[in-house]
Amino acid sequence: MSANGRIITAIDPGSYKVKAVIAEITDEDKPNILGFGTAVSRGIKKGKITDLSKATESIVSAIEEAEEMAKVTPETCIATITGDHIKGINTTSAIIITDQNSDTNDLRNVEKEDLIKLTEYAKAINLPIDWKILHFLPQEYVLDDQGGIKNPLDLSCRRLEAKVHLIAYNYTNATNIKKSIENSGLKLETFVSHSIASAYGSLYRDEMELGTILIDIGGGTTDLSLHYAGGVYQTSVITVAGNNITTDIAYLLQTPLEKAEKIKKEHGLAIPSDSDADKNIDFNLINGNPSSLSKQQLAQYIEPRVEEILLEVKNECRKSNLNFLRTFPVVITGGSANLKRIDELAESIFETSSRIGIPHDFTGYEEELKKPEFSAVIGLLKYYIIASKQPDSFRTTQKRKFKWLDNFLKKFL
Ligand SMILES: Nc1ncnc2c1ncn2[C@@H]1O[C@H](COP(=O)(O)OP(=O)(O)OP(=O)(O)O)[C@@H](O)[C@H]1O
Ligand SMILES: [Mg+2]
Repeated sequence: MSANGRIITAIDPGSYKVKAVIAEITDEDKPNILGFGTAVSRGIKKGKITDLSKATESIVSAIEEAEEMAKVTPETCIATITGDHIKGINTTSAIIITDQNSDTNDLRNVEKEDLIKLTEYAKAINLPIDWKILHFLPQEYVLDDQGGIKNPLDLSCRRLEAKVHLIAYNYTNATNIKKSIENSGLKLETFVSHSIASAYGSLYRDEMELGTILIDIGGGTTDLSLHYAGGVYQTSVITVAGNNITTDIAYLLQTPLEKAEKIKKEHGLAIPSDSDADKNIDFNLINGNPSSLSKQQLAQYIEPRVEEILLEVKNECRKSNLNFLRTFPVVITGGSANLKRIDELAESIFETSSRIGIPHDFTGYEEELKKPEFSAVIGLLKYYIIASKQPDSFRTTQKRKFKWLDNFLKKFL
């Protein structure tokens, strides 16, 4: 099954803004954006639905804006999912490959059935009740003692091992998000983890091969994914992000949240500098009285929170089984990547290079959408296209057809 020519609606129900994008898939397997819409997020907090009718309203508003622009009325959609009800887990599974017809336990070729068994074993991890597996992401296969194998089919060995990253989700929370989306009248085809979507939106294929840490700092959550050799080695969701920076400013300055948000966007910096000591920002206190502070002081209020987020990301990355993390560059995306000098702070914390990630490899409304806050929604489309194209991760040397996409879609809800 191919996604080419199809119209896809992607929804990113963020804690700060809901984004909806309608795209057609070109013959070059790229999304061509026909329309997009955004809406201030209400009733969605850190990936959870706190008020179903308000969440539905926000989602409907973003979809309607996209529909008007695209001049199409889609029936189905795909959506990102984030929050502390999403967990990344590294696991391994192994099976013995022996020739049943041989007395000497001779080598035989790895067959598709072996891989199915291996996958089932890898998925049979001890999950809390009400949790299910959303993504099965193979990192590498190990044939006897030879690692780094991407496709073991038809190769010979005695023992086959799979190293895998699983992403699991809590079914109850996901059902409520699904409800808020489907109240709009669109049928949800599948969820994709926000961490994975952001990576597909803003990373280049070479970065995924050479090793990169992707950090999407949104409003309510920070989603990270660690990529190496084309595989995913860690994903996590941290429930501290840009909205916490705004709350810190509001609290420390005793100014309304709306004003704090404006001050952050206009004057905020992730690293204080002496040259900003005499640049004053005027604002009103909650009681209406005028006040002011220097740009340097504002940065001193912002830096500890961003540092906390980045250190937490670093901590999460250490949970992967990669031991040469220190050299991996960092890509920061999500709306909070707009905070000035955040890339410099990341460089000093991770002791590596960093860049700001924006979505790429799509056409239509490029000027409007090539911004960090759209990485997840564009990446959602790109991931879907790649997933629909891939006949099977267990592709044989003969051309056999597998119902890969059907299985892929059946896994969700
Ligand atoms: N110029 C800017 N400087 C600093 N922060 C910014 C700037 N522009 C946007 N932000 C912050 O980015 C955050 C929103 O980012 P984004 O749209 O990616 O979040 P979201 O996807 O709605 O939330 P989440 O992914 O956490 O559910 C907000 O906290 C907002 O204040
Ligand atoms: Mg987001």
